[in-house]
Amino acid sequence: MTRTPVSVTVTGAAGQIGYALLFRIASGHLLGADVPVKLRLLEIPQAVKAAEGTAMELDDCAFPLLSGIDIFDDATKAFEGANVALLVGARPRTKGMERGDLLEANGGIFGPQGKAINAGAADDIKVLVVGNPANTNALIAQRNAPDVPAERFTAMTRLDHNRALAQLSKKAGVTVSDIKKMTIWGNHSATQYPDLFHAEIGGRTAAEVVGDQDWLENTFIPTVAKRGAAIIEARGASSAASAASAALDHVNTWVNGTAEGDWTSMAVVSDGSYGVPEGLISSFPVTTRDGEWEIVKGLEIDEFSRGRIDASVNELAEERDAVGKLGLI
Ligand code: NAD
Ligand code: LMR
Repeated sequence: MTRTPVSVTVTGAAGQIGYALLFRIASGHLLGADVPVKLRLLEIPQAVKAAEGTAMELDDCAFPLLSGIDIFDDATKAFEGANVALLVGARPRTKGMERGDLLEANGGIFGPQGKAINAGAADDIKVLVVGNPANTNALIAQRNAPDVPAERFTAMTRLDHNRALAQLSKKAGVTVSDIKKMTIWGNHSATQYPDLFHAEIGGRTAAEVVGDQDWLENTFIPTVAKRGAAIIEARGASSAASAASAALDHVNTWVNGTAEGDWTSMAVVSDGSYGVPEGLISSFPVTTRDGEWEIVKGLEIDEFSRGRIDASVNELAEERDAVGKLGLI
């Protein structure tokens, strides 16, 4: 039976994440090996030619699941009929630049894109914002799309989640698959809180298995939280292949569900859980099923975790207030 292709809009298609992402979407890693996709690429006019070059290469791969590629420099057209939207296009942070500096530079991009999604995306649209500052860019897009259910706008902390799995697996001498219930709380920034008090290895908490509070506090948390900056320092450019891989993981888990007894991290619109002000797009532990996410409820938060979560959430509230003052939400 031939399935109707799923329309996937990718912004910033000619950028470095775009280049690492598109070939894997077209080969079935976003939605599944039996789901045909149609790509709708959005770029700024100066980068359309480069996007056309990438489209030529996509053609040359003869991917059986790829049923078409269209390229746009107009957001309204690019999001028309989109079922999934990956908002990657933004200005990446460069050496020495703080993420807060990006608010104004990027805020202007995500308002019009939210409006375009509101105007023409498919009824089942799912949005993942990757472009930084991702949580607040997602908030801007969401507030500019009043007819789309707010829960369809999410931001990416799956890269942080995957970084936390990798660091913990090395320390504990286990594989990443042995670790369950990892959580990133808060903002995709240096204030994020990777939580080892709810993560589990073999049914015990990761904090207990590791048994080293000094490592947890002074090595693990800063390594994960500042990994983006460390990659920029090492490569001279921000993470690309790992970011693309995490974007695929995020959407794939959202669509296809979390495994029994496990959860993932997604930045989603807060319903007030865990003291995170309602409406902020903050990272939480979430389970997913039938294309819907749900925040894991009822976890006990000790004083140490409370302080870390509050610090990151306060930063999100400040970002929200800053873009509010700029008239972006
Ligand atoms: P890049 O500069 O290589 O590519 C960005 C692309 O976006 C460029 O081709 C540019 O022309 C395009 N673009 C700019 N404005 C646009 C607009 N209005 N519409 C459509 N396209 C537009 O950057 P990159 O390395 O691919 O990174 C993209 C973004 O992802 C950055 O903001 C980066 O900081 C962010 N990022 C986020 C995470 C995360 O975990 N959330 C991880 C890595 C990178
Ligand atoms: C990352 O986490 O690698 C990106 O968000 C880049 C950055 O600016 O930290």
